[in-house]
Amino acid sequence: MCVTLSIVQPHSPFLCPCCMPSPPSAVTSILVHVGFLTEESGDVFSPKVLKGGPLGEMVQWADILTALHVLGHIVKISVSLKELHGFLGVPPGRGSCPLTGPLPFDLIYTDYHGLQQMKQHMGLSLRKHKCHIRVIDTFGTEPAYNHEEYATLHGYRTNWGYWNLHGQQYMTMFPHTPDNSFMGFVAEELNETERMFIQRNKVNNMAVVYGKDAGMWKGKENFLAVLHHYMEIHGTVYYETQRPPEVPAFVKNHGLLPQQELQQLLRKAKLFIGFGFPYEGPAPLEAIANGCIFLQPKFNPPHSSLNHEFFRGKPTSRKVSSQHPYAEEYIGRPHVITIDFNNSEEFNAAIREIMKINVEPFLPYEYTCEGMLERVHAYIQNQDFCSPEVPFPPKHLARWTSSVREWNLR
Ligand SMILES: *[C@@H]1O[C@H](CO)[C@@H](O)[C@H](O)[C@H]1NC(C)=O
Ligand SMILES: *[C@@H]1O[C@H](CO)[C@@H](O)[C@H](O)[C@H]1NC(C)=O
Repeated sequence: MCVTLSIVQPHSPFLCPCCMPSPPSAVTSILVHVGFLTEESGDVFSPKVLKGGPLGEMVQWADILTALHVLGHIVKISVSLKELHGFLGVPPGRGSCPLTGPLPFDLIYTDYHGLQQMKQHMGLSLRKHKCHIRVIDTFGTEPAYNHEEYATLHGYRTNWGYWNLHGQQYMTMFPHTPDNSFMGFVAEELNETERMFIQRNKVNNMAVVYGKDAGMWKGKENFLAVLHHYMEIHGTVYYETQRPPEVPAFVKNHGLLPQQELQQLLRKAKLFIGFGFPYEGPAPLEAIANGCIFLQPKFNPPHSSLNHEFFRGKPTSRKVSSQHPYAEEYIGRPHVITIDFNNSEEFNAAIREIMKINVEPFLPYEYTCEGMLERVHAYIQNQDFCSPEVPFPPKHLARWTSSVREWNLR
């Protein structure tokens, strides 16, 4: 197995510190219960898969399953309550019976839906076993929303929060905060031959728009018209019989593309442009890995659960400063250009700049196969939320910073 020691990139303060010696890998028995795919959670997801619905979460689940398998663990997968019952050994029926024996898994990866289902079907024994649970939680859960008493007293109760877990039991898609664990996913890394192919085949004035759903194009006519002035615009918008009205006639719309063909399109394109939605997805990383420049809007003021419908009710009030803050902060220029789209001078200048510069394909280490395997391995070996002391990451690897808090005196 290629889980070896390597240097933590100075760029990524939240990468797990893998440069500590790990004990030899012990095989762990793991249940992966994908709550949001169960019928009982009202699976709203599957019907949209082939119609331009969001796939980012599926990318992450697939990569988690692959990593666990490749690392040699025994993995069981459940996507229904019946399977969940069977694996946990709870009697079928209306449930709420505590488990009588020990928990038959060392670890359970699930999501908020799954957590709710386990609560309903394991009764009080969930409390006893919850230190074994890891919650895959795209946008993260802040401590104020997780701590039941604090959340209740201070108005942080949401539909999802107050499970009183250890903050690092929540595993996010991007490294938002050391309060949670960064799980991430894998994007494809190009080999030398493919890099050379890209060098030769980039089309300098070709742009691909981020957004498979026609709704994401609504109200963007002005930006598109300006962009079209400089570049040929391609889209991958789902449609049934005819061109969606939101997509202007000058856009070459390919419809939904299979991953391979999307990859080919990105390899030719110079620019991948986001119009503000979806937030924090995997696609910009794939585009950058294929040598595109990602141009995205800055949000001023930032979006959050306090001011934007999409985030409302999510157990975090983290401020999202652009469509993809990770790309903005940890990748940055020349691969990522984040500007105020409403400032037409800035917008024009950015496109002219993009047509002038050449960039190499780039993939941050933490999103490579090796980075993901290393991280998942380090978590499994070192995270232990069942003992009172949680020694991981080790204290000597901490970076101390000071912060100033302004108190609002009433
Ligand atoms: C690079 O990847 C391509 C396709 O993914 C493969 O056909 C080729 O053999 C690889 N080249 C090298 C040098 O590994
Ligand atoms: C641009 O301005 C409009 C209207 O003032 C606003 O609704 C929109 O969110 C702004 N877009 C960006 C990307 O800042």
